[in-house]
Amino acid sequence: MHLTRDEESICRGEHGESLRRMMEILVALGDIYGADRLIQVRSVQIAGVSFKNIGEAGLEWISDLQGTVIVPSILNPAGMDLCRWKEMGIDGDFAARQLQVVQAYERLGVTLDCTCTPYQIYDRLASRGDHLAWSESSAVSYANSVIGAKTNREGGPSALASALIGKTPLYGYHLDENRMPTHLITVDAELQGADYGALGILAGRAVKDGTPLFRLKGKPSLDELKTLGAAMAASGSVALYYVENVTPSPPEQSVPGEIVALGRREIDEIFKDCSAGEPELIALGCPHCSERELERIAELLDGRAVQKELWVCTARKTAQMHPELVEKIEQSGAKVLCDTCMVVSPASGRYRKIMVNSGKALTYVPGLCGVEACFGSTERCIDAALGRD
Ligand code: F3S
Repeated sequence: MHLTRDEESICRGEHGESLRRMMEILVALGDIYGADRLIQVRSVQIAGVSFKNIGEAGLEWISDLQGTVIVPSILNPAGMDLCRWKEMGIDGDFAARQLQVVQAYERLGVTLDCTCTPYQIYDRLASRGDHLAWSESSAVSYANSVIGAKTNREGGPSALASALIGKTPLYGYHLDENRMPTHLITVDAELQGADYGALGILAGRAVKDGTPLFRLKGKPSLDELKTLGAAMAASGSVALYYVENVTPSPPEQSVPGEIVALGRREIDEIFKDCSAGEPELIALGCPHCSERELERIAELLDGRAVQKELWVCTARKTAQMHPELVEKIEQSGAKVLCDTCMVVSPASGRYRKIMVNSGKALTYVPGLCGVEACFGSTERCIDAALGRD
């Protein structure tokens, strides 16, 4: 990989040991994937925040680093609501460790918004054509597909390296030649809401790490695109997709070789696939709820009291910008939790069964939380929380 004189001096350790180590990560990645140089990134989103996932070794690694991030950098969800962790049943030891992780990032200048939906709270992080170094798979998918920016799916260390160096190796989804659709997915059904999560599960399974181009009947909203991308990134490892006449187009017109035809029957199977038994926890907000989603939940709960634990996960900024919605939701007895989610928090582990409206959460909850999961639309989830099922 060709390095500039400045980059070479960082490699020699002339800017300190931490930056040398960060550059080592970027150069190693570039060499593995055949990048010929590093490119500037506009922003970074860093996974590896929940203490549940990174443990002592991760905390130590981050705490050892010196320096300051030189591009806007934001964190992925942590293992708890940083303010209301006691209400989540998080124990004091975990909370202390989690706060140390967040403080270690803060010391490096990272913005302390712990969210997988940075695009819902800041416009300045990504625009069409920008190169980024984002980590969280649903955020990566949204950035590549809906915003039309360019990012690989970074690991926590490589994202942090990009934040401190301001660059990433030029390979993968940064290059137009790797952004062409590989599969055409036709859907012969009108879809809405959680249907897109079900479609994402099916499409991810079908294309694996490919790039699907969807031909849909309707026009999905931004929240539905968010849901679709998140589920595909979980059931497969899709980092980029296209929806005809909705998202930015592929770099060149072409018809993908492989065709997958899906319809209502396949989508409904995903909803039916749930094992029997009442959920003990209903968890919404995977990816983190937008203002519109909070509005919908508040509307469905209006004036009623939940009979079961209901979590609504969102970014702290989103909650702060809409206190009236938070209040309305919480009047029902539900909890609006910030900075965290049902998958990355250890608090989910004490339930036997969780109901979600997200294809991504449905895919990850059993394996990562050791808890059964079932799937329903937002309306069905709220009905379950209200004890109407
Ligand atoms: Fe976000 Fe957690 Fe889902 S990080 S995409 S809410 S698994």
